[in-house]
Formats: sequence, structure tokens, C-alpha cells
Amino acid sequence: MPVETASVLALSEWNPESWKTRPAAQLPTYPDRAALQDALGHLARLPPLVTSWEIEKLKQQLAEVSRGERFLLQGGDCSESFDDCESGVIAGKLKILLQMSLVLVQGAKKRVIRVGRIAGQYAKPRSAETETRAGVSLPSYRGDMINRAGFSQQERIPDPALLLRAYERSGLTINFIRALVEGGFADLHHPEYWDMGFVANSPHAAEYTRMVESIAESLRFMETLAGCVAGEVNRVDFFTSHEGLHLYYEQAQTRQVPHRPGWFDLSTHFPWIGDRTRSLTGAHLEFFRGIENPVGVKIGPSVTPEEALALADRLNPQNEPGRLTFIHRLGAASVEKRLAPLVEAVRRSGKQIVWCCDPMHGNTETTSNGVKTRRFESILRELEVSYCILRECGAHLGGVHFELTGENVTECIGGASGVTEKDLARDYRTQLDPRLNYEQAMEMALLLSRLMAKERRVAG
Ligand code: PEP
Ligand code: CO
Repeated sequence: MPVETASVLALSEWNPESWKTRPAAQLPTYPDRAALQDALGHLARLPPLVTSWEIEKLKQQLAEVSRGERFLLQGGDCSESFDDCESGVIAGKLKILLQMSLVLVQGAKKRVIRVGRIAGQYAKPRSAETETRAGVSLPSYRGDMINRAGFSQQERIPDPALLLRAYERSGLTINFIRALVEGGFADLHHPEYWDMGFVANSPHAAEYTRMVESIAESLRFMETLAGCVAGEVNRVDFFTSHEGLHLYYEQAQTRQVPHRPGWFDLSTHFPWIGDRTRSLTGAHLEFFRGIENPVGVKIGPSVTPEEALALADRLNPQNEPGRLTFIHRLGAASVEKRLAPLVEAVRRSGKQIVWCCDPMHGNTETTSNGVKTRRFESILRELEVSYCILRECGAHLGGVHFELTGENVTECIGGASGVTEKDLARDYRTQLDPRLNYEQAMEMALLLSRLMAKERRVAG
């Protein structure tokens, strides 16, 4: 729909279910409506997963990102799975983000906000309604919150009970993360706790070790000077995010809180709208415009500068810094052409936007054997080009958004460890999009950190 038509549509009063008056893309149809209402009723009574204080804190930190004072690191699975809700996997995801953030702090010389795609990333948009195997077509798998990945008719029926399972798994995950963070797991005095054995044979291992030592050294130096222990670094902030796709689920966790105006989506700190559900006239925009959380919106190659401005008008009418992040995912092949007009239009309009590059979703390809993968070099290229274009346009790269895992899977090709197309078969585990493995993710962070350090030297 043309932007003008969309903006003429009257915006009536918002309430947590006003989205139901708009077309909702990608929402499952539940054959058992009574069971859906029952599950939603439960969800609406259960305690929230996050608090409004945490949400407001993150929004303030994102406002600092928009002023160039902080950097955002967002990452995790394409799609979480219920089976992966176990201590080793959760700790691994936390560790990789902590380690990457340490590396980015060194390069950017800025504090880093860590946001996991975690504790709720259970609903997925799909390009095709059905999946066909050996001549049999069934409804597509849409994430563990909606249906099951197994290939049978029964498993693919949307099941409302899974909404409660997703809430519970999210609660278990966030509980464990909070305990780890509070308990000193993320203490900067002991970055060696975070060590996952950044593989000794990696060409970047020595650089990482040097960074860790230099941080511990600087901390000791500061504490000697000040004569006290830097308490703030005993623990770090860690926030959660997921695609706010399943509006029934989001609505059920959307609440008012004492002494604060407005409505908070308390299922996560930082929900985002996917590239397939960002229609200006759709249900997702309607829901997101009314919540107090900082929100993201994925910006794919089809977004025009006019549309980008209309998204900002709709989602951030007060032009509040930190409220809106554009997570651009244009692809290495088109970022050069498409990013500058968007950034220019935003700059001229004076709108406050955090620019966060997702170099994963525009760079997905399928090998000749039909395996979905991404190339390390394309991912890196989109990041580097984005970094430069944003700077040339008088803006700055505020953050990065990766699909990654703390494990040594073989889903993306390339990187120093040299994962080849043939290697993909060795340890390919993702249900949906291919993720950077531990080594690839660390290498990406090191290369980005180097780029930021170099630019600081040039500018400085
Ligand atoms: C995702 O982040 O997994 C996703 C589906 O992204 P996008 O909406 O950008 O395609
Ligand atoms: Co994905």
C-alpha cells in the first residue's frame, strides 16, 4: 500500500487488543478456539517475565547508543527450541555474548549493551505456508511456541498448550541467566570464567587473550588508584529480545504497572517486528505503537525511504531517543545501494533512530545440495559497508544483530577455521536459519572491533 494511503488511515485509540482490527500476517489459525482462549487466560494471569524498570533502563541505554555513547550487541538463535532449554546451552549463549562484548568494548571504547535473542524467540514467520517432502505437503513448522517440527499432520497443527510451554521455558531461561549474572559469572574481574576455550589453534586466540589480560590489568590499575573495588563491574546488564510475532502471546503479557503511565509488554525487554510483518496498516504495527518498550523493526531491501520515515512516525511519534531501532538486513549485494538513501532521509527528518546491522538475513543462500547457509565473508562485508556508509552519511553504526550459538556447529561457511560447503553436513543443527558458530562469532567480533579501533585512530 502506498505510504500516503496508510498515513491517511485514522489511528484510533490504542488498547492491547486494538491490533485485532487490522490484518495480522503470519499468525497461526488455531482449530480449537476454546483451547486458545483458555491458554491466553492463563498467560494473562501468570507473572511477567521482565519488569518495567528493566525495560526503562534498556531504553535509556539505547538513547545513549543513539548519541554514540554505547554500542548494542544483539544475538542468539534464529529460533530457540524447547529441547535446548538446558544449563550448558544457556550458559554457552550467555558466555559467547559476554566474550564478544568484551572484544567490542576494546575496539569501540564504549560500553556495550548485551541483548540475547533468548527467552522467548519461539515463533517464526515463514515464507511458505506449507512444506513438501517426498510429495507430501504439510503446514510449515512455525516455531516451538506454535507447532512441532516433526513431519506429521498432527505435529504441525497449531497447539495453544505450546504458548504456555514457551512462557515456562522463557521463565526458566531468564531465571538461570539472572542467577548467573547476579552470582558473579559475568564479573569483569574474572573474564577467565567466560572462557569457552577460544580454540588455541584459532589465529585470533592470542589477540583475544591479550584483550582479556589488558582489561583485567586496567581494572586492577583503576582500583589501585581509587583504593576500592569497582562494584559496578561485578555484574553486567543482560537483556532479552525476541520477534514480537505472536500477538496473542504478546498481548497476554502486556500490562499496566503501578506509578508508571502506559502499557508494558512484559514478555521481553526488547521486542522487534520482523521484515514480513512490518506493514504500515497491519496488526503488528498497531500493537507495537502502543507499548512502552524500546522496539526494533527489521528493515529489508524493499523498504523505501518514505516507508522508513512512516514507520518512525508510527512507532515513535514523540521522537524519543532509544525508543526505535532499525535493524537493517539489506544483504551484502545491495547494502551499498540501499542503505545511504534510508540513512539520508532519516538524518534530514531529524528522527532519532538507532541503526543496528543484521548482516545475517540478507545473506542466506542455498547450496547445490539444498542446504541453507551463509558465508562469513558476505556477513563481514555487509557489516563493514554499513559501518562506512553510516559514518559517511553523518550517522553511526549503533549496534549489530547476529544469529549465533556458543557451540561448534557447522552451519555457516568460512571464517579462519575454514568451514567449507562439505563440512556443513558434519554438525548442522539449526531448525531454521544457519548460525555463526563459536569461533566464527568470536572472529566476527574481533574483526569488527579492529575496524572500530582503526576508525577511532583515523578520526582521532
Ligand atoms: C529473524 O530475525 O529470524 C527473521 C526472520 O528476520 P527477518 O524478519 O529480518 O527476515
Ligand atoms: Co533467522
